[in-house]
Amino acid sequence: MQAAVVNVLGQPPQFQEFSDSVAGQGEVVVKMLAAGLHPIVKSRASGAHYSSSGKVPLIPGIDGVGELDGKLVYCFGSQEGLGTMAEKTVARPENCYPLPPGLDPLQAAAIANPGMSAWLSLKLRAALKPGESVLILGATGVAGQLAVQAARQLGASRIIGAGRNVDALRDSGVDAIITLTDPEEAISRAFADQLSQGGFDVVIDYLWGRPTELFLGALAKSFRPDATRSTRLIEVGESAGKTIALPGALLRSVDLTLSGSGFGSVPLKQVLGGIQELLQIAAEGRLQVAVEPVPLAEVTEAWGRTEKGKRVVFTIE
Ligand SMILES: NC(=O)c1ccc[n+]([C@@H]2O[C@H](COP(=O)([O-])OP(=O)(O)OC[C@H]3O[C@@H](n4cnc5c(N)ncnc54)[C@H](OP(=O)(O)O)[C@@H]3O)[C@@H](O)[C@H]2O)c1
Repeated sequence: MQAAVVNVLGQPPQFQEFSDSVAGQGEVVVKMLAAGLHPIVKSRASGAHYSSSGKVPLIPGIDGVGELDGKLVYCFGSQEGLGTMAEKTVARPENCYPLPPGLDPLQAAAIANPGMSAWLSLKLRAALKPGESVLILGATGVAGQLAVQAARQLGASRIIGAGRNVDALRDSGVDAIITLTDPEEAISRAFADQLSQGGFDVVIDYLWGRPTELFLGALAKSFRPDATRSTRLIEVGESAGKTIALPGALLRSVDLTLSGSGFGSVPLKQVLGGIQELLQIAAEGRLQVAVEPVPLAEVTEAWGRTEKGKRVVFTIE
């Protein structure tokens, strides 16, 4: 079969012949039609992701849309080395769901991974309640834009988006924007200003690194001994840095709960349940993402392409 193949970790895949995917026990072969180029796909293909075994050659792709028993399905691949960016992949049948009627296959392939991160972090990990306020760090990316839409769906009263490419947020319906290309003092002031207007019940963090440090610095300065407010920060991505400096005093001076959302902190069954729910909502037109379709044969050239606020989806003939 034809597939995208990573032969050397860290280098873009080549479109080449690869031996057909063979189903193991409890698996089925799925004929693939579309697979999203999500950050985790690149991270695994480079060997850098915490779930990556680092073995090559490998076919990248964690999920996508394909055909199984003549039906269109969303499926989550079951073997790391036999990913979804190929004519065929292998999956466990319980991890393949019929696409809800009316959902465009490219939209489904684009939205499942970033949308799941938004949906699970807000609904499951933060347990967002209607009327609560939300800050999204990295609201300009595909996942961040979906987090804005999901927070609205879940009844957030106030949504603040922070990012660099803030043009992506102009029509998003956020209540205020914090521009992360501003000088650090201005960013800290903007966080402080928002904190003085009632603070945030929930922070969904796709960035980590310096923007998170600046937010937490502003949060620490919002200290009031007589008016404690609780904030649940959910770490979801690390686009701006792998680590942060976390002063101990911060955890004593404000009521901050830190947790994360991802494979491992959320069991796979719940991740896939969240995706199923999300695809239904997307089919109703209540969540949307901009898609850039690219034929899989162009994988090498498209691998490093930065499509701001859009998800590249490889189409497979
Ligand atoms: N844990 C999970 O379940 C899960 C699931 C999906 C994604 N993620 C993670 O979430 C993050 C975002 O994913 P995505 O799908 O939205 O990717 P994306 O569409 O490529 O967006 C990347 C985002 O990172 C921002 N960014 C990159 N470098 C930055 C920097 N140095 N400083 C500030 N912002 C920076 C971009 O900002 P601008 O566009 O404003 O430049 C954009 O908002 C990734 O780290 C991804 O691995 C986690």
